[in-house]
Amino acid sequence: MPEWLNALPKAELHLHLEGSLEPELLFALAERNQIALPWADVETLRAAYAFNNLQEFLDLYYAGANVLRTEQDFYDLTWAYLQRCKAQNVIHVEPFFDPQTHTDRGIPFEVVLRGIQQALLDGEQQLGISHGLILSFLRHLPEEEAFKTLEQAMPFRDAFIGVGLDSSEKGFPPRLFERVFAKARSEGLHAVAHAGEEGPPEYIWEALDLLKIKRIDHGVRAIEDERLMQRIIDEQIPLTVCPLSNIKLCVFEHMGQHNILEMLERGVKVTVNSDDPAYFGGYVGENFAALHQHLGMTEAQAKRLAQNSLDARLV
Ligand code: HPA
Ligand code: ZN
Repeated sequence: MPEWLNALPKAELHLHLEGSLEPELLFALAERNQIALPWADVETLRAAYAFNNLQEFLDLYYAGANVLRTEQDFYDLTWAYLQRCKAQNVIHVEPFFDPQTHTDRGIPFEVVLRGIQQALLDGEQQLGISHGLILSFLRHLPEEEAFKTLEQAMPFRDAFIGVGLDSSEKGFPPRLFERVFAKARSEGLHAVAHAGEEGPPEYIWEALDLLKIKRIDHGVRAIEDERLMQRIIDEQIPLTVCPLSNIKLCVFEHMGQHNILEMLERGVKVTVNSDDPAYFGGYVGENFAALHQHLGMTEAQAKRLAQNSLDARLV
């Protein structure tokens, strides 16, 4: 990666902590927790990271998360991510975690939260990285389950800044979660949601109008709807775009087709993020580097993208 790219101060606003679980740490945690894995070794697992769509990735992502059992595991996961941030001049992070992925396996909510929270606090003190944690609901599960998760989370209200919506998009429109998002907002939490990754522009409209989100996660399909484009430009609603993720999950065929710079030039507040870096081939820095290499992103454009990420922080 060019040094000038690495040196740019950046914020990462779209990162699933469970998606930062590198194969090496996954194997180490499996051994520590005495869990048998279906993959022979790290290389075999990495070789399985070939996906045709979001769902194929999610199946492996949830399988990988099964090695996360103890507070220390969640601490180690988060701490490893923050070290990567430090090396790439990421100075602020607003990561997601998926409580239901863990509570559904019998891991108590507070075990997950305490491990993550302690690492974030240490990251602030020892690495100088500020943070705001976002609790994400799994949209393939019923809204009722999201309500239960929010209830479990409320004793720890001060540990996070907002709620998000992730997992399988198609067939699970934002409108299914209107009430739980209203409840979360009434508690003073910010709202964000994945929309327009695989799903149609209508899902972005719903996320804005019904969930009242502050930021759109992905949102690359907004470009198919001119009226929507005008709105996100006029209102300067940030998009947390994840270029390498979009290629790995076949949202675009190759990086040369990605629309992030076209959006940037049209005045959309786009940002660069890694989504699930352990699975998609790199962290924020590698995402910037790919735009430079394949789309001819200039230094001036990189600076605007980095500034957008700092401007689009929720905290
Ligand atoms: N999309 C939806 N859900 C997710 C993703 C994603 O890219 N990564 C982890 N959960
Ligand atoms: Zn995501």
